This record gives sequence, C-alpha cells and structure tokens, in this order.
Amino acid sequence: MTADNADTQPRVLVVIPTYDERENLPTALERLRASVPDADLLVVDDGSPDGTGELAEKIAAQDEEASGRTTIYVLHRTGKLGLGTAYITGFRWALERGYDVIVEMDADGSHRAEDLPRLLDAVAGADLVIGSRWVPGGSVVNWPVSRQLLSRGGNTYTRLALGLPLRDATAGFRAFRAETLATMALDEVASAGYCFQVDMAWRVQRAGGRIVEVPITFVERELGRSKMSRAIVVEALANVTVWGVEQRARQLGAAVRRLRRR
Ligand code: GDD
Ligand code: MN
Repeated sequence: MTADNADTQPRVLVVIPTYDERENLPTALERLRASVPDADLLVVDDGSPDGTGELAEKIAAQDEEASGRTTIYVLHRTGKLGLGTAYITGFRWALERGYDVIVEMDADGSHRAEDLPRLLDAVAGADLVIGSRWVPGGSVVNWPVSRQLLSRGGNTYTRLALGLPLRDATAGFRAFRAETLATMALDEVASAGYCFQVDMAWRVQRAGGRIVEVPITFVERELGRSKMSRAIVVEALANVTVWGVEQRARQLGAAVRRLRRR
C-alpha cells in the first residue's frame, strides 16, 4: 500500500462478540480475512466456558506470526455481560485507536463476510449502514418460522412505536462511521441484549444521522446455539415501549407549547 493510499483508505475494525462460539469462530475469522483483508478484527469474548477466548488468542498469535503484523485483537470480559455492552466495549476500543469505520458482526456464520464489502461501500455515504434481511433482495436461510415471526413482529412494532423508518432495526450486521459513534453518549446506552441494536439506530436517527439499509442474506448458524432468550425479548419489548411513550410525550409537549404561543 502506498502512503497516499494509506491516507485515503478508511481504517476498518470489525467487532465480533462471542459467547461459546468455538466451532464457528475460526471459519468466521478466515472468511473475514479473505473478504476484507485490510480490516482489523476484534473479538470480544465474555469468558466463554467452551474456551472461545483462548482459541481466539491462538488464532490471533498464528495470524501475527504468518503475516508479520497484528490484525486480530481479543478482549476478555469476566462473564456473560450481554451483546450490547460487548459492542460498547469494542466501540470504545476502536475510537481510542482512531479507526474510521466500525463494523458489528456475529461470529456464527449468519452474517456472511462476503456481504461486508457492500456494507463498507455504502458507509461512504451514510452514518450507519444496516445489513437488512427485510428489504427487497434481503433474505433469511434456515431460520425457523418462529424466529422469522419474532423478527418481523419486532420490526413492525418498532416502526409503529418509534416511527423509525427501518425494515430491519434489530439487525446485528452493521457498519458505523466512527465519527457518528464518537458524538454519541455511549455510557447512556443501557440496553444489555439485542434491543441494543434498536437503541443505536434510534439514537443515530434522532441525532439526524443518515441510515441506509443494504440487503443481505442471513444464514442461520449450523453449529452451536443461539443466545436469544425470553429475557432478551422482554427487555426489547419494554424498552421500545418506553422509548415510544417518551417520544409521544415529547411531541405532545412541543404541540402544547406551540398552541400556548398562539
Ligand atoms: N460477548 C458476548 N456476550 N457475545 C454474545 C453475547 C454476550 O452476552 N450474547 C450473544 N453473543 C454473540 C454470539 O456468540 C454471536 O456471535 C452473536 O453475539 C449473536 O448471537 P446469537 O445468539 O447467534 O444471535 P441470534 O442469531 O439469535 O440473533 C441474531 O438476530 C438478532 C435479532 O434479529 C443476531 O444477529 C442479533 O444481533 C440480532 O439482534
Ligand atoms: Mn446467530
């Protein structure tokens, strides 16, 4: 890479949260290496009992030895602290190190590394790019009907409650422009589970950011199991409802103030 190129090419960090993904992580990292060779990768492991954290260290060391430079990094947290806080930890790490673009991606093969270059192309003209299952051209493979209904229902509810004009506000395959994250109060993001995704999109939207949805194919994992739980669904439903009510209250307050001024 020439010095000139190094100045113009955005530095990309892919953040990959893991909890018990030993069978999936090696392939996920390999596919990323092949699809986005210039990106750095950060695994945020929550002390996986299956040894995913140690495996990540081993792969990172091998990669460093083979390529002569460090491109895979690993953070270890003490226990399963949730997807949302894992990403916040990764975002802070990336911002401290001056990356230009920060990507969110699952470790289980559901998000295809081969789709990532299209997300990165789109982030040149957006604050947040969402790899979307529910826009034309997007799809899901091998997802049980129950999960499809949960995802579609959750997205419809989110659209109605928040007026967030997105087809897939819960999607976990995303690219943020670092400046967008830098201006956000990350310590105020309290969502622990998957509603973290809605939370972030909602914050970007309210800050006047541009959100673009790019169609992706979401392929259900073949190995290991999903960490989706009833508690995660309940948190999402409760938070979106509260945010929706707060939003209505703000709108009502503004309308009343306008009327009074007349
Ligand atoms: N560090 C850490 N801590 N990682 C976690 C945790 C956690 O508490 N919970 C889940 N993960 C990791 C998993 O290991 C995986 O790499 C990724 O986060 C996604 O978890 P899955 O359990 O595979 O999620 P899913 O397939 O059920 O849900 C997908 O769809 C959701 C809703 O549409 C994901 O793409 C979610 O991001 C998305 O919100
Ligand atoms: Mn998954």
